[in-house]
Amino acid sequence: MKKRAQVGIVGAGPAGLMLSHLLHLAGISSIVVESRSRSYCESRVRAGLMENWAAEMLIATGAGERLKREAMIHEGIHLAFNGEAHKIDFAKLIDRRVYVYDQKEVVTDLIAKRLGDGGEVIFEVENTSVHDYQAGDRPVIRFTQQGQQHEIECDFIAGCDGFHGICRASLPEATWREYDRVYPFGWLGILSESPPPDHELIYSFHKNGFSLFSMRGPELSRLYLQCDPDEDAEEWSDEDIWNELETRLQGVRPLKRGRILQKGVTQMRSFVCEPMRFGRLFLAGDAAHIVPPTGAKGMNLALADVRVLSQALDAFYQKKNEDLLDAYSATALRRVWKGQRFSWWMTQMLHRYHQGEYAEFDMKRQLAELDYVTSSTAASTSLAENYVGLPIA
Ligand code: DHB
Repeated sequence: MKKRAQVGIVGAGPAGLMLSHLLHLAGISSIVVESRSRSYCESRVRAGLMENWAAEMLIATGAGERLKREAMIHEGIHLAFNGEAHKIDFAKLIDRRVYVYDQKEVVTDLIAKRLGDGGEVIFEVENTSVHDYQAGDRPVIRFTQQGQQHEIECDFIAGCDGFHGICRASLPEATWREYDRVYPFGWLGILSESPPPDHELIYSFHKNGFSLFSMRGPELSRLYLQCDPDEDAEEWSDEDIWNELETRLQGVRPLKRGRILQKGVTQMRSFVCEPMRFGRLFLAGDAAHIVPPTGAKGMNLALADVRVLSQALDAFYQKKNEDLLDAYSATALRRVWKGQRFSWWMTQMLHRYHQGEYAEFDMKRQLAELDYVTSSTAASTSLAENYVGLPIA
C-alpha cells in the first residue's frame, strides 16, 4: 500500500513522537513507523530525568497533563564521597529545577496524544528501509507488515530510530564520520519496591565504584551500580546487589531493601555522527548520538534535536525558507557536543578507574574535583546549569 505524508518518521521514541507532535501543531503531516510493539515502547524503563525546558515544552504543547500530576520536581542533587553527601542546590544557585519522570511515561503520553489527535503511528513494522533522500525531493520509506509491502512517499525523512536503527546504518560510508569513546565500565540498574534513601538523587563516588540512587516514586527506587561493561545482570544475586549498594552508600544514608522488580546492564559510550543531515534525511536523538547515562542527557538531547528540526521544517513550509534546514546539523550539534562534554565530565568524575597506571592518581584527583565542585559556588553553578539544561536555541 502507498501512503503519503510531508514528513516520514522512523522510530516512535521520544524524538520521533515529539517531532510528530510538534509538526502536527504546525499543521505539517507526518507518519511514524516503529519496529517494536506499542506495549514494548510504553513499558521499557529508561532514564528518568527531564531538563526544565523539556518538561515545560511537554506542558506548553498540551502533552504534559500527567507529567504535571505525577512528575517529581527536584531542587537539586547530592554528590556523595568520603561517606558524606553534599547538596548541589539548583533552586538556590540558579532558581531552576528538574523533573523526575521516566522516558517510558513521556513515550506513553506522546503516543496517546498523537493517536488522540488523529496521528498515524504504525507499530510492529519490519524490513524498514529509506530511499532517494540524497537526490530529488521525494524520499521514500518502505516496510512490511504481516508480509505486506508498504511505502510512504514524503518530502523529508526523520531518522529517529535509535543507536541501532536502520537510518544511520543506511548512509553511504564516505558521507559521515563518527566520534566515539567507549568507557571501561557499565551500569547494573535495578527497579525495586523500596523507598529511595533520599527524596532527591544521590550520585556517589566510592573506591569500589560509582552508584546512583534515583527513584520512580516514594516507594519505588531506581538504583545503579558501576560494574564491568560485559557483565551479565543475572550473575548478580539480589543479596549481592543490595550488599554492594549498601557498601557504596555507607555513612551517607541508611538504605532500605525491597523486592527487585527488574535488573539489567547498560553500556557506557559516547558517540556522535557528523553531520546530522543527508539531503532530505535528518537524524535526531540516539540515531545520531549517544551519551553515557551519568546526568541523564540522552532523552533531553533527543528532544532538543527535534525542537530545532520542527522549527526548520515549519520555516520551510510556511515561508519556503531553507536556511534553518541547512543550519539544522550545525545548530543541533552545538548542543549535542555540550551534552557530550557534560556527560563525559560527570562520568569521569564519578566512576572508579580500577585499572591502568593512573588509577590511584585518578582517585585522588577525582576526590579533589568532587571537593571543589561541592564547595565552590562557581563550580556548583556550572554543574547546576548543565544539569537542569542549557538555554535552548
Ligand atoms: C536516572 C538515570 C540517570 O542516568 C541519571 O543521571 C539520573 C537519574 C534515572 O533513571 O532515574
